[in-house]
Amino acid sequence: MPIVTWSDDYLLKNERINDHHKLFFKILNKLYDGIVKNESNQSIDSVIVELEKYSTTHFVYEEIYMLDISYGHMKDHISQHDIFRSKIKELKSAYSSNSIEAKLKLVAFLKEWTLGHIIEEDQRLAEWQDVSRASSRAERL
Ligand SMILES: [Fe+2]
Ligand SMILES: [Fe+2]
Repeated sequence: MPIVTWSDDYLLKNERINDHHKLFFKILNKLYDGIVKNESNQSIDSVIVELEKYSTTHFVYEEIYMLDISYGHMKDHISQHDIFRSKIKELKSAYSSNSIEAKLKLVAFLKEWTLGHIIEEDQRLAEWQDVSRASSRAERL
């Protein structure tokens, strides 16, 4: 059973970010699946590395995007990304300590973080796009 299920409630007004988030869900589910099936450390480690690489790609994309649109809540948003980045590091040490409980606890945290972050911070970012477009349209009038 997946730990996260995609629904249209998570759709934001930015297709590229939506595509990233859908892939994020897939990797989180792959990680959870590997942990509950007690797959080899090597295979779980490769998924953690995949999640780490993908989160870096996605966060950098959002952070550059924030710069592009002169986003007003950039500091708050980036500090939330930093929390995720540090949890991935913890997951790596939980992996080396070999504790399934620690891994499950961290995956549950990553799930809660991801859902809350999309609905609040990423949603606010996607809405800002509308505000900035509306204001640049307004300036052209
Ligand atoms: Fe974000
Ligand atoms: Fe995001």
